[in-house]
Amino acid sequence: MSKDTLTITDNRTGRNYEIPIQNGTIRSTDLRQIKISEDDFGLMGYDPAFMNTASCQSKITFVDGEKGVLRYRGYPIEELAEKSTYLETAYLILYGELPTEAELKQWAHNITFHTIIHENIKKFIDGFHYDAHPMGMLVSTVAALSTFYPDARSIFDPESQRKQTYRLIGKMPTLAAFVYRHSRGMPYAYPDNDLSYTGNFLNMLFKMTEVKYRPDPILEHALDVLFILHADHEQNCGTNAMRSVGSSHVDCYSAVAAAAAALYGPLHGGANEEVLRMLREIGSKNRVPEFIKKVKAGEGLLMGFGHRVYKNYDPRAKIIKQVADRVFEVTGRNPLLDIALELERIALEDDYFIKRKLYPNVDFYSGIIYEAMGFPVEMFPVLFAIPRTSGWIAQWQEMLSDPEQKIARPRQIYLGPEKRVYAAMEQRRSA
Ligand code: ACO
Repeated sequence: MSKDTLTITDNRTGRNYEIPIQNGTIRSTDLRQIKISEDDFGLMGYDPAFMNTASCQSKITFVDGEKGVLRYRGYPIEELAEKSTYLETAYLILYGELPTEAELKQWAHNITFHTIIHENIKKFIDGFHYDAHPMGMLVSTVAALSTFYPDARSIFDPESQRKQTYRLIGKMPTLAAFVYRHSRGMPYAYPDNDLSYTGNFLNMLFKMTEVKYRPDPILEHALDVLFILHADHEQNCGTNAMRSVGSSHVDCYSAVAAAAAALYGPLHGGANEEVLRMLREIGSKNRVPEFIKKVKAGEGLLMGFGHRVYKNYDPRAKIIKQVADRVFEVTGRNPLLDIALELERIALEDDYFIKRKLYPNVDFYSGIIYEAMGFPVEMFPVLFAIPRTSGWIAQWQEMLSDPEQKIARPRQIYLGPEKRVYAAMEQRRSA
């Protein structure tokens, strides 16, 4: 009869161990009983970059990287992108179910009521250099929110969690728009609560002297779909930062700042910025083969390709390609799209990329759309951080309510010097 266990023989001692398997996983702490002597610490797993380690149990997002599947709370991303709004999706991610009509109305009202930021925040945005990266400004200002809401320190209080959720989801677009206006030297535009979540964001970004800003409905909808696609993605680098920093029981603004900082990096949320730089550097379709040759020779990466989890087409990239067509009907075609399509065509036929299962990821086309909509490249990671905030909060709340979670603290394999005698100054040699 088959058993859900794993039998391990330690060839150092000849001893056998039987370890339970649950959900296709063994608990690494079960390895600790495997010792060669009483004072041995016990066996550990070594897994740099968490290539094969589950750090939590989660009910939020499901990804099947081999099949190219992404679901939030069981709902396929394709259906949510087609039928839901971002705020509806954020509710689903946070509370586990799609909202009823009344719940959605109340939810949208609560978020809308928290879009205004304290006037003092404007003052320290003013203090940044005119050319400060918007993501650097966003990371700093979201961290600073914790000083305005000391009640956020009551992390286990459901009422406080509820309030910080409204504040974070409501204020992220305002912070993002204000840092954008600062970098343009433009006066800040205040929220307009008559507009939708993305409509209001466009208002705060692009409003000029008109009394009422009216967002283009196609661009408003496109941005909403892009927000849905970016709302959560299980245990990626940023979310892992959210959980890890949050596990110290710091307030959620500080944890979101850490998660956003992770998103700033070019291998994560900064990748679409890099995609545009790359496309510009290539410059024209006929230079694509030469560029691919360089990538294959190890002289750089094909940015926007490859993913730690997706070893098949990223489902979000497929949806984004459709969004692009609709956006370009309004904005005109971005000439970089032709270079991107040629890159994709050649790469998907090339053995190097096929063998390594490298396909376009969400960032390959999103930058081209954002650029066509009038966003400068520095705003791209900011546009990622806004919708990801709902995912970060949901993951943070799930972590706090999980009785198995403790402060995140990995082990290490120490390979440095053994204990040695302190070297006096005259005995030291330069390294
Ligand atoms: N271009 C060329 N080669 C690549 C690329 C790429 N974009 N990505 C991976 N490879 C190669 C690696 O060199 C490696 O080759 P090797 O086996 O000959 O050494 C092989 O494919 C495996 O790659 P790893 O780096 O081991 O894959 P990993 O899972 O660690 O990395 C990552 C995933 C970081 C996304 C990587 O594919 C990458 O750097 N891509 C470009 C940046 C990017 O687009 N990031 C956005 C990710 S999506 C997101 O964050 C929302």
